Amino acid sequence: MSQLQLIDKQNVPQHIAIIMDGNGRWAKQQGENRIFGHYEGVNSVRDVVEGAGEAGVKYITLYAFSTENWNRPKEEVDALMELLVSTISMETPQLNKKNVSLQAIGNLNSLPPACLQELNESIEMTSKNTGLKLILALSYSAKWELTEAVKHIAENVKNGTLAVKDISEKLIENELCTKGIPDPELMIRTSGEHRISNFLLWQLAYAEFYFTEKLWPEFRKDDLFTAILNYQNRERRFGKTSEQLTQPK
Ligand code: IPE
Ligand code: IPE
Ligand code: MG
Repeated sequence: MSQLQLIDKQNVPQHIAIIMDGNGRWAKQQGENRIFGHYEGVNSVRDVVEGAGEAGVKYITLYAFSTENWNRPKEEVDALMELLVSTISMETPQLNKKNVSLQAIGNLNSLPPACLQELNESIEMTSKNTGLKLILALSYSAKWELTEAVKHIAENVKNGTLAVKDISEKLIENELCTKGIPDPELMIRTSGEHRISNFLLWQLAYAEFYFTEKLWPEFRKDDLFTAILNYQNRERRFGKTSEQLTQPK
């Protein structure tokens, strides 16, 4: 029986965020250079996005390139940007076929112009799709996002359009790149690393974390289903006691 059939369809996380890590180590294991790992990682992206749709997930956010990743060797950064452009243009017809709409979060203006153009075209071409929303985090970091939000809020207070007493959690949420997107219930990180690496600090406040030793190029839809099943066996208490959750209201 496939893992998919074991999933309780009533309790599927509506938003899953993934730190796709381990491409470089996977390539090294194969005796190849790091870029080869990024190429193979695209096959995992395709399969996992398909699996997310099959499981009934509504939003999937993939951490594809962090603010800190700009500090990698230039050849690797250039290769990643080229891979991004070619992948987006090649995959757009499939996204349309699968009714997936593409979005992006991050400091998108820092991307090379060709990359940004391809991204915007694909976002536009898939914007009418009503199924899974695929959100790519590109040149993204949570500290950058929160700093931008604070700047904008401070400007509004300064120019008199916002009163300090009206600053609320909701207002802050509306200043983030993820405005309108529900917080992820599940965050997955591959490659055995147990850290957030500047990903969605605000939005992951109450997410369940799932870590796997598998490297990203080895992670496929069945691994996603395993993570969802693991999530379904957890009790999400949100500060309450276990008894409160099981008592009839
Ligand atoms: C994740 O794999 C992809 C990106 C960060 C772009 P890595 O490239 O970080 O692979 P490792 O962690 O070095 O193995
Ligand atoms: C996090 O992976 C960023 C992405 C997956 C895009 P990294 O490999 O860059 O993170 P660190 O350096 O191990 O924290
Ligand atoms: Mg890494």
